[in-house]
Amino acid sequence: MSLEISPAGAGSCALLARLHGLCFSEAWTQDAFASLLAMPGAFAFLASTEESAQQMPAGFALARAGGGECEIIALGVVPARRNTGTGTALLGAIVAQARLLCVEDLLLEVAADNAAAIALYRAAAFVPVGRRKSYYRGEHGAGREDGVDAIIMRRTLLP
Ligand SMILES: CC(C)(COP(=O)(O)OP(=O)(O)OC[C@H]1O[C@@H](n2cnc3c(N)ncnc32)[C@H](O)[C@@H]1OP(=O)(O)O)[C@@H](O)C(=O)NCCC(=O)NCCS
Repeated sequence: MSLEISPAGAGSCALLARLHGLCFSEAWTQDAFASLLAMPGAFAFLASTEESAQQMPAGFALARAGGGECEIIALGVVPARRNTGTGTALLGAIVAQARLLCVEDLLLEVAADNAAAIALYRAAAFVPVGRRKSYYRGEHGAGREDGVDAIIMRRTLLP
């Protein structure tokens, strides 16, 4: 099944919000995506298969570059499309765009109990560089009084 990664602009905010709601327990609004995409250095991608393009893209990614760094703000693949390389392809598109923007370091935060995401990032050469205690109290920290730690992961693009 061929997978296509395409840039997502301001006109895709409604779609991005719907995708976010399918990928995460808490949906970000269309307005939230409009604000995020309006930030300097922000960019996003959609992942579609021939089949999914008829209905809903398979996944999305949103990142922001600036000052030599690029933060991956959100990356999600709809449940039915997981484990088929879509997350890896979206991550690859972010890395390629970051290189074009002369980024030196890619950074992200991931919940310490999100094994799938941590495995995806490790496989893409991200390494843990820090930890924020009890950072997630919503989605990943739900039902836990102490919340869930965030792992900060980094991948350098320098030779
Ligand atoms: C994390 C997520 C984006 C992975 O997307 P995906 O399309 O399933 O990932 P891929 O198919 O490209 O898998 C890449 C690698 O990730 C790892 N991985 C993916 N799902 C995994 C799982 N459920 N358990 C363990 N490892 C997993 C594997 O190492 C895999 O490589 P392999 O297939 O060679 O073994 C997806 O599970 C998701 O959208 N989760 C909910 C949203 C989320 O948590 N986003 C990240 C927030 S930081």
